[in-house]
Amino acid sequence: MTGASDSEAREFAATFRTFLEWIHRDEVGEERRNEVVALLADFLGPEGVEWSAVVRSLSTFEHVNLQVALDAWSREPGRDVTVHGITLPPHYGGITLGQLFSGEGLPPLRLSAPPLVDLPDGPSSTLACMLMAVLLVSDDRGRFVVMVNGPGEHDPNLELEVGGLPVDEAQAVHARLAELRHELNVYRGHVLDVRPTPMGITLEFGEVPGLNREDVVLPESVLRRAERHALAVAAHREKLRDAGQHLKRGLLLHGPPGTGKTHTMRYLVGQMPDYTRLLLTGRALHAIGSVAEIARDLQPAVVVLEDVDLVAEERGFGPGATPVLFDLLDAMDGAAPDADLLFVLTTNRADLLEPALAARPGRVDVAVEIDLPDSDARRRLLALYGRELPLRLSDSELADIVDRTDGVTASFIKELLRRAVLESLDENPSQLAVGAPQLGRALDDLLDSTQEVTRSLLGVGNDPATLPAGGGAGGLPPPHPGRAWMMAQARARAFRIGG
Ligand SMILES: Nc1ncnc2c1ncn2[C@@H]1O[C@H](COP(=O)(O)OP(=O)(O)OP(=O)(O)O)[C@@H](O)[C@H]1O
Ligand SMILES: [Mg+2]
Repeated sequence: MTGASDSEAREFAATFRTFLEWIHRDEVGEERRNEVVALLADFLGPEGVEWSAVVRSLSTFEHVNLQVALDAWSREPGRDVTVHGITLPPHYGGITLGQLFSGEGLPPLRLSAPPLVDLPDGPSSTLACMLMAVLLVSDDRGRFVVMVNGPGEHDPNLELEVGGLPVDEAQAVHARLAELRHELNVYRGHVLDVRPTPMGITLEFGEVPGLNREDVVLPESVLRRAERHALAVAAHREKLRDAGQHLKRGLLLHGPPGTGKTHTMRYLVGQMPDYTRLLLTGRALHAIGSVAEIARDLQPAVVVLEDVDLVAEERGFGPGATPVLFDLLDAMDGAAPDADLLFVLTTNRADLLEPALAARPGRVDVAVEIDLPDSDARRRLLALYGRELPLRLSDSELADIVDRTDGVTASFIKELLRRAVLESLDENPSQLAVGAPQLGRALDDLLDSTQEVTRSLLGVGNDPATLPAGGGAGGLPPPHPGRAWMMAQARARAFRIGG
């Protein structure tokens, strides 16, 4: 085989150069054809696209606030805004304003109506929010572009970019939009369930608990102490502030399972309508840092940390990581003392919390113990949960039931009445009548030795110290009955009421 002749080599070189030119020309052509790049270049002119785009990453729960802020901002006098959506083919990652300015490294893009995601902006309303859009803006700063890059399949972040302006002016646009997000924040004043996500948290609008004072059966002094700490400070906010007193406060509700810690917390939260109320439990407790920040931003605010013992023994990640409970207490300390912030902690393992609380004093200033209901409370609970029933009991029958239920929890009494209703319906489906026979049978059944698990689920006989963190029935085998419970059972065997 012989080598190529000079003329062949020259011919090949020429062809190859033409090929390269062809490729290059085609690339340029692609860019020109990209209507999004062309739109921005035409709008901003050659100088506009030279500026750096300034990006701010926002939490995804801010998406709805961003839309509200952009809507209000676009309506401000002297500003003209045109919105263009961008559609990316499926499976492409995100794009940046810088890419759109340079036209480099872009996936195929098209202009379209803005893709929207419908997000809750209140307990019963939603707002369509832009997912991927550029806003062409003209105002007294000149012409510039704002891009919304919402969370997508490949990029779970929400990004807002401002481009076409000197950096300090782009920052000022960001600052104004942040101000509007704060002012018009859709979460302010609502009850919000904080849910953990792999990327952080989401905030879900919850219902305002509609509990009245009569719905909470506790010794008067106990309920009053909880109310004074949570509600009275709210009522006297201004006067306390004027007198130089701190408003930030921590309330710990502790006691055995099923006695009404969550119930009391819900009552208090329902009585604080002008507060932003953030409820955290389980894994969401790890997000206390960002939640405390939201609470500071939206104060007056309540942050409820349910079953904090869940994180009492957990540690964060990494070497030298502190227990999550310490992080939680530190987050409570972050706000200024005159911030109207209430932290409510509930637990049935106060013993697990005590060392941490002692080591970080000043976070919780009132601890209210919610104990098993005494005889007066059991009487009131029977009246409360029997109030919508045709409940017929003589004084002595009532006294018997109250006596036999010594040592049970409030949730046990509630369940007792439910079972008595079922007993009655079993007897005669057409006529509901709950009296001593039905209550007696329901109680016999619940106190039956084979119903240990049921009782444990109602909190009865659970010694908090033997429960796993987080309480509840936890890892059954049978619970260890407390003294009151044993006595109740002995009494239950000694005399039965009803049929
Ligand atoms: N003191 C109470 N007054 C009226 N109802 C109560 C009371 N305590 C409990 N209940 C009823 O029992 C249900 C369960 O109680 P709750 O969830 O408040 O218990 P808890 O103390 O938070 O228990 P846990 O430690 O397991 O979280 C409540 O939803 C409520 O219906
Ligand atoms: Mg609870």
